[in-house]
Amino acid sequence: MTEIKALYADMQKFFQPLWPGEDKPLVFGEGNAMQPPLMLIGEAPGETEVIKRRPFVGKAGKNLDEFLTLVGMNREDIFISNVVKIRPCEIGPTGRTRNRAPNKEELSLFTPWLMKEIAIIRPKVLVTLGNVPLKALCGPKITIGDCHGTFLKTEGGTPLFALYHPASIIYRRELKTVYQADVLTLKEALFRNNDI
Ligand code: URA
Repeated sequence: MTEIKALYADMQKFFQPLWPGEDKPLVFGEGNAMQPPLMLIGEAPGETEVIKRRPFVGKAGKNLDEFLTLVGMNREDIFISNVVKIRPCEIGPTGRTRNRAPNKEELSLFTPWLMKEIAIIRPKVLVTLGNVPLKALCGPKITIGDCHGTFLKTEGGTPLFALYHPASIIYRRELKTVYQADVLTLKEALFRNNDI
């Protein structure tokens, strides 16, 4: 078994008994697990991701395609994962299940596993999407508004590039050009290689 598969098997064993009677399947990372140029880290899977048991395949998958086109890479070139690996959800006023932000308990349960995942994958650059993965890796004080489009150092030493979450662009259209400019900054840095 590869190291990453062994980690995911350990996670399965750890999380299975935590929420008895609740259906909370884990959605693991996927892609190039051998020191990829980029490891993309989102917040948590949504409904489609849980159905397909794959990260970033729902609406967010379309945004991911746009990211890949801008940066000039294929999905198979990079590793894609989330901080929280279950779908955080709640029942809305209409009685339908809807996504919610991960809570403190979920974040503190999953973040140590994300650290182990990063240590196994050993990407050249970590790319966080939005505040949740950024804060998980750099601490609660930092915000995406302050540091998007820049490189930060993580505790493990891997450079981290902060991007807005693509979903936030849907609510704040003015962020679209900012997001695209940030992705191009990342692309140039990857090509130049020396200022990362
Ligand atoms: N889908 C994911 O897998 N992660 C996100 O952050 C959003 C949608």
